[in-house]
Amino acid sequence: MAILITGGCGYIGSHTCIEMLAAGYDIVVIDNFYNSKPEALNRVKELSGKDFPFYECDIRDEEGLRKVFSENKIDAVIHFAGLKAVGESVEKPLEYYDNNVYGTLVMYRVMKEFGCKRIVFSSSATVYGGVNPSPLKEDMPTGAVTNPYGRTKYVLEEILKDFCVSDPAFSAVLLRYFNPVGAHESGRIGEDPNGIPNNLMPFLLQVAIGKREKLSVFGNDYDTHDGTGVRDYIHVVDLARGHVKAVEYAMKNVGAQPINLGTGVGYSVLDIVKAFEKVNGVPVPYVIAPRRAGDIATCFSDPAKAAELLGWKAELTLEDMCRDSWRWQSGNPQGYDS
Ligand code: NAD
Ligand code: UFG
Repeated sequence: MAILITGGCGYIGSHTCIEMLAAGYDIVVIDNFYNSKPEALNRVKELSGKDFPFYECDIRDEEGLRKVFSENKIDAVIHFAGLKAVGESVEKPLEYYDNNVYGTLVMYRVMKEFGCKRIVFSSSATVYGGVNPSPLKEDMPTGAVTNPYGRTKYVLEEILKDFCVSDPAFSAVLLRYFNPVGAHESGRIGEDPNGIPNNLMPFLLQVAIGKREKLSVFGNDYDTHDGTGVRDYIHVVDLARGHVKAVEYAMKNVGAQPINLGTGVGYSVLDIVKAFEKVNGVPVPYVIAPRRAGDIATCFSDPAKAAELLGWKAELTLEDMCRDSWRWQSGNPQGYDS
């Protein structure tokens, strides 16, 4: 029995490989290195002490996928592969629909051909849009998304629900991630963004290490405890462990199940800056800048369904997130090229 991990060289995928191997699963990884480097895989092997098959393969390559499925007995797929930059998706919608939506359809076709009926899919809290109040619950309406990236996640959730209706033996666990941050406690794997980071923690890390002068805090006039945006930051290792539980759960006949992976606690941008400075003793110069278009004031999860169905809850603290992020950044100032 093996679990196929698409996009397994990426940020969340590499951490999930480690946790799946630690839980005793055999894994097979595919990635096209669009947003990752082979060195991540070397480090996963080094940290886990285990080897596993890897295929440099695009999820849109049907023949390539057939080869993977015919050479391995794949019982379930954890599907991370996809493009994820919100701003880029507005400029390049075709690439996002092609890669994320078409790619997943190709993969489903091959899964079907080989009788593989279990998928754990990387969705996002973005499917809730800006219309629902936090804490966000899985039964709230979805689809009021504001960019093509978010639309690919929403559409793929709906498509996977349709597949489950058409084949009652097909299970799809739709994991809605909140804001993943942090890195493996070894400091050997972590997030290695290309270009100027969009997300808060990778940008903050580049300021802390002196690559960038200061952090722009996007707005301090939101209706939150200090005026800055509030999010549900979750340690990537907790998130990865959620996938181990989700695979176990998907093995039962569960149909399509959206499940939040968050902590249930919201922190503001300034909470993050202060916690980071305190935990690591490193200053993070910042300025207050205008609000960023498309941002909402507050977004955090109700994590009860994950606890009930998966027996999972986030355990690592904000201090762990800040400490582990900094260990990765300071030990690998150029990411995997260090
Ligand atoms: P990432 O970019 O680090 O990892 C994605 C991996 O998929 C990369 O290694 C990339 O090279 C690979 N990939 C992309 N397109 C591919 C294709 N066509 N064929 C094969 N491989 C391909 O991103 P991540 O942060 O690890 O995110 C993983 C998943 O989780 C994505 O689907 C993302 O949309 C979703 N997600 C991420 C966040 C976040 O904040 N990081 C939040 C919500 C959801
Ligand atoms: N922020 C700053 N300065 C920065 C970057 C971010 O102040 O340089 C603020 C934002 O305004 C927001 C908070 O930090 O208040 C978090 O912003 P991120 O860009 O890190 O994350 P978002 O919540 O905007 O978006 C993330 C993912 C999306 C996903 C969404 C919901 O990037 O892919 O969470 O899950 F859709």
